[in-house]
Amino acid sequence: MLDLVLRNANLPDGRRKYDIAVRDGRIVELAPAIADRARKEIDAAGCLVTPPFVDSHFHMDSALSYGEPRINRSGTLLEGIQLWGELKPQLTVESIKARARKLCHWAIARGTLAIRSHVDVGDPQMLAVRALLEIREEFKPCLDLQLVAFPQDGYFRLPANRENMVRALDMGVDVVGGIPHFERTMADGAESVAALCELAAQRGRMVDMHCDESDDPLSRHIETLAYHTQRLGLQGRVTGSHLTSMHSMDNYYVSKLLPLMAEARVHAVANPLINITLQGRHDTFPKRRGMTRVRELMQAGVNVAFGHDCVMDPWYPLGSHDMLEVAHMGLHVAQMTGTEEMRRLFEAVTFNGAKILGLAGYGLEPGSFADMVILQAGDPVEALRLKPARLFVIRRGAVIAETAPVASRLNLGGSSLSVDFRQPAD
Ligand code: FE2
Repeated sequence: MLDLVLRNANLPDGRRKYDIAVRDGRIVELAPAIADRARKEIDAAGCLVTPPFVDSHFHMDSALSYGEPRINRSGTLLEGIQLWGELKPQLTVESIKARARKLCHWAIARGTLAIRSHVDVGDPQMLAVRALLEIREEFKPCLDLQLVAFPQDGYFRLPANRENMVRALDMGVDVVGGIPHFERTMADGAESVAALCELAAQRGRMVDMHCDESDDPLSRHIETLAYHTQRLGLQGRVTGSHLTSMHSMDNYYVSKLLPLMAEARVHAVANPLINITLQGRHDTFPKRRGMTRVRELMQAGVNVAFGHDCVMDPWYPLGSHDMLEVAHMGLHVAQMTGTEEMRRLFEAVTFNGAKILGLAGYGLEPGSFADMVILQAGDPVEALRLKPARLFVIRRGAVIAETAPVASRLNLGGSSLSVDFRQPAD
């Protein structure tokens, strides 16, 4: 007897009407018609079943703090950092945990079961680190939360951060972070990349830096990050987040940079909602979009994922932690509206993110964890178009979240009719 069978599921790779069998928390079989019965059966009825969404870049310590202690008047990245600095003295472990817990509930309801969150290590009491380590444990049964030690105010610029980084790793934070473009000089930025990559190599940790989150085309720390990745043998374990300066770089230089990144197997994370909001703020018109070169990175063989980055915090007033909203914005900003391109961007919020986090057992293959989301849409492109209800969110074979199907009715001319927003391809 199986524990669970999903019937009539459409899969992200285009296979249709498949059954998925689950036993002991893992997928044991995918086939067009599985005869075995299960304790629980769910008819997906031609809906898309995907592995969970993965948010490759988030800030859970600041999430849902919008308006505290005031809103960001200029809307810029730099005022956001200043505002976060004003809020930090008021934080408590309990207040951070309460906001993080609510955010995790939103994420799970939206079908996001893996989040890489940066956590600011700049506070001598390490309140945010302590709070998020506890949240990581609390949510372990239903959500993979990976933490990055993030020196928000600079690794060298705030001298205490050198010691705080080590303390955070000792406390159990998973990944080494950085913010080279925020150091005092380009030289300091480059030196911080070298020092942090060396620390990661010594400790056997992954690296994920806020890198070149700037409109300055001469902000080239990604080149340095790729170089030290190669030098220290960290290939495949290093991520450059944001990389927005690549939007403004000279094309000739980028033609050299892309192969260097591919060779070092550096992953790239774009944050479309935030990049389109924060970049180009000093421009009048024409106004730059600011998001990194997603299509070109993918064509060069670089693994690219998307992150939500912010939800209702000093940098961004909106969001409900919906990774389909992120991908929807991403495909607009990148102008990747071809059918195959849209499918690839669905992967930027699923498979590509799983690769960055190094998630074991992720996917829809026999042996994978039975972690799945059933969407009220037939395929990835329809999911991007509708950002539909996550009908069932399944973790290790158990349904952990449900949302009722969206059903609209019209009352026109005395008759009532239902509206179906789906538009099947066949
Ligand atoms: Fe960020």
